[in-house]
Amino acid sequence: MKEKAHIIVFGNEKGGSGKSTTAMHTAIALLRMGYKVGTIDLDARQGTLTRYFKNRFNYIVQNKENIPSPDHMAIERSQAETKAEQQAEETAFLSMALEELGKICDFIIVDTPGTDCFLSRLAHSFADTLITPMNDSFIDLDLLADIDMNNYEIRGPSVYALMVEEQRNKKMMTSGRGIDWIVMRNRIPHLSTNNNKIIADLLDKISKLASFRLTPGFGERVVFKELFLKGLTLMDLKEYQNNELTMSQISARQEIRTLIKAIAPEKYKGYRKPLRPDDIKTKKIAPENDNTVNTNDLMDESIEKKKKKSA
Ligand SMILES: Nc1ncnc2c1ncn2[C@@H]1O[C@H](COP(=O)(O)OP(=O)(O)OP(=O)(O)O)[C@@H](O)[C@H]1O
Ligand SMILES: [Mg+2]
Repeated sequence: MKEKAHIIVFGNEKGGSGKSTTAMHTAIALLRMGYKVGTIDLDARQGTLTRYFKNRFNYIVQNKENIPSPDHMAIERSQAETKAEQQAEETAFLSMALEELGKICDFIIVDTPGTDCFLSRLAHSFADTLITPMNDSFIDLDLLADIDMNNYEIRGPSVYALMVEEQRNKKMMTSGRGIDWIVMRNRIPHLSTNNNKIIADLLDKISKLASFRLTPGFGERVVFKELFLKGLTLMDLKEYQNNELTMSQISARQEIRTLIKAIAPEKYKGYRKPLRPDDIKTKKIAPENDNTVNTNDLMDESIEKKKKKSA
């Protein structure tokens, strides 16, 4: 029987902290390391991760180049009438998605919305690894801990940390395993201010209180916006950029590698043979005259079939 896929959830109740960008980069980095990867977009309404993959498919079609892409699924919020029905449907959708991807993947990456909702909480309860990117601001910090701003004393964990604690306990009860929680700073300015230093110190203290690990994170880099539009990641640049990598791109790639090192995929799935260009097969390319691809249909069909079966 296939060993259980390792689930990596990207979560933070704060919008725009870099969850989708980091999820995408992690997925492609793991694929390039030779692992089989599936991705789930739980923020289908906004659909940033799904849009990222559509842009990637368009890049493949337009440039006729194969770049590795994971099996991707997007899950919409339930439109059922009652709250109970909505929660039952969303639980069934996510469970089925994890089961389907789990059959073929070593790692499943789950991108969650930047708000507190049932689907996001549920995803957290399945996480083997949870990655929380946060911007270098007191507003982001406020979701992790209640801090007295007069003297920077930490009074206790705050809403998001409490939610993670609750899901950790749930997971421990159901599977006997906890969640490896990693917090990373994102968009770190090149020139550090006094506030950045205070935030770094506070994070260090909160990590002990809320039981998470800290990893250095990503600097502020304009290249992320440009890469999104092309559907590419920093891990794709070497092969698909004509000129040499810039110093900034090299440092940015190093930041991604540091995050992957913190996740330690080999601990769960062993070492794999990294992908070479010849190994890369495009999963699905749109017909010649249509440069858009529905990335959901691969798996959605099997979910629909299952739903009908169980009805
Ligand atoms: N390190 C970075 N440097 C510069 N821009 C970044 C960085 N990380 C993310 N961004 C940009 O910040 C914006 C928000 O990022 P992203 O969509 O990944 O956040 P999110 O947490 O998924 O947001 P949401 O909660 O709305 O889903 C995007 O435009 C992205 O390109
Ligand atoms: Mg997002």
